[in-house]
Formats: sequence, C-alpha cells, structure tokens
Amino acid sequence: MHIIAISTSGREKSNTSRILQVMLSRLSSLGVQTEFIWTGNKEIKYCRACEYCMKEDKCSQKDDYEEIRQKILASDGIILGSPNYAFQISASLKSLYERSHSLLYYTRRLSQKYTIGICVGGHSYMTDKIAKTIAQGIWLCGGYYVGYLGAVSVNRDELLLEQEKETLHKVEELSEKLFYAIQKKKKFWWQDFIRKRFLYPQVSAMVKNNRDKYPFLYQYYQSNNYLR
Ligand SMILES: Cc1cc2nc3c(=O)[nH]c(=O)nc-3n(C[C@H](O)[C@H](O)[C@H](O)COP(=O)(O)O)c2cc1C
Repeated sequence: MHIIAISTSGREKSNTSRILQVMLSRLSSLGVQTEFIWTGNKEIKYCRACEYCMKEDKCSQKDDYEEIRQKILASDGIILGSPNYAFQISASLKSLYERSHSLLYYTRRLSQKYTIGICVGGHSYMTDKIAKTIAQGIWLCGGYYVGYLGAVSVNRDELLLEQEKETLHKVEELSEKLFYAIQKKKKFWWQDFIRKRFLYPQVSAMVKNNRDKYPFLYQYYQSNNYLR
C-alpha cells in the first residue's frame, strides 16, 4: 500500500504539514509505504486553459506538475492538506486541481483511490467546509473520500493547534480509517450513486458533443465503455 500526503501551505514549517506528517507516521507504523510532498518547493504554474490535456494525455506546460501527477496516479491513497487562505484552499492546491482538469476530472483516473482532506485555519470559519471541498476534489476524479478535518491553529508562529491532543487523536483515527478503507477496498455507495446519477451523464454528453475537438477523450471514453 502506498499513500502520499501533499501539503500546500506556503510555509515549510506549518500546521498543515505537521498534521500530514502525524498521519503518515501512523500509516508507516501500519506498514504503509508513505511519501510527503510539499508544494512550496515545487513549481506548479497556473493552468492556461489551453485544453491541450483534452487532446493529449499530458499538460502542455513544463514544470513539477507532471512529477506530482505521476505520484498521485501511482498511489493508493492521497492526503491533501491546505491552509485556509482568504476563506478558500491555497492557490497552490487550486493550481494543482486546475492543472488536473482533464486527466483527473474527465478521465476518472482516480477511481479506486481513497482520500482525506485536511484544512488548517486561523479560525474555524469555513475551515471545515474547505476540508470537505478538498476531499471532494478527489471524489470528482473518480475516487472515494474517507473523511476530512478542519483544524484551527493557535497563532501563526506557534505550531500548535486548538485542542491539540484531541485534534491529533482525530487525525490518527482518520489515518486508520484511510488504511482500512484501502485494505478492504471499501465502497462508499452514496458517493458512487451521486457521481453516476448527476456527474457522469453530463460529462459523457460533453465528450460525445465534442468528439472532433477532443479525440483523445472520446477514444478514452469509448475504450473504457464510459459513453452513455
Ligand atoms: C494569506 C493568508 C490568508 C489567510 N486567510 C485566512 C482566512 O481567510 N481564514 C482563516 O481562518 N485563516 C486565514 N489565515 C490564517 C492561516 O489559515 C493560519 O495561519 C494557518 O495556521 C495557516 O496554515 P499553516 O500553519 O499550515 O501555514 C490566512 C493566512 C494567510 C498567510
């Protein structure tokens, strides 16, 4: 089992990264092969909306995105962490999602992968909601979200969380939930249901209507029997 954690805090020493490291450490003790990635020392340019990725199986821009994409695709589980910046996910995580537009969102490449979303805010307003949004990003790409957690930091410079002990305990519990979901290949039927009922018909119609514009996507849908 291979699980990666991606911290998208702007700071190297951050509460977001600390929570992710706690999770990876618990997972390592369960025998999981883990990897920590911090986007702060990676170059992830903004999406230019050129739609090259809808025509070819890759992004047109050259930077560290491809390396991260390959790590996501090779993993069984992905823990995504972001600070609450301006009531939203970090710009770095937003870029990562945008750059994954076709490959992950349209092509369901994250099917059979499991995720957890973590958000750390200076206060609780929106923080839980952002954590859920983070987890649902992977769900949009075909995967399952196992859980999410919003935490609040005591102050900017101290790496200390409100209700520190309880929060870190919850974080360890979430790691275990992730581990057992992957081990048992757990199905979350309501997540499958909503995807199949509302999301996939719309995406399939878009792919059919644009078969000349996006031949790669059309062929991919045909060969995977995704067309409806
Ligand atoms: C640019 C910026 C914007 C922020 N905006 C918010 C915000 O809207 N809501 C909030 O609760 N905290 C906000 N904060 C506080 C951070 O979420 C908080 O310091 C958190 O601990 C940062 O995560 P980190 O410790 O992983 O770096 C902001 C901090 C920065 C640097």
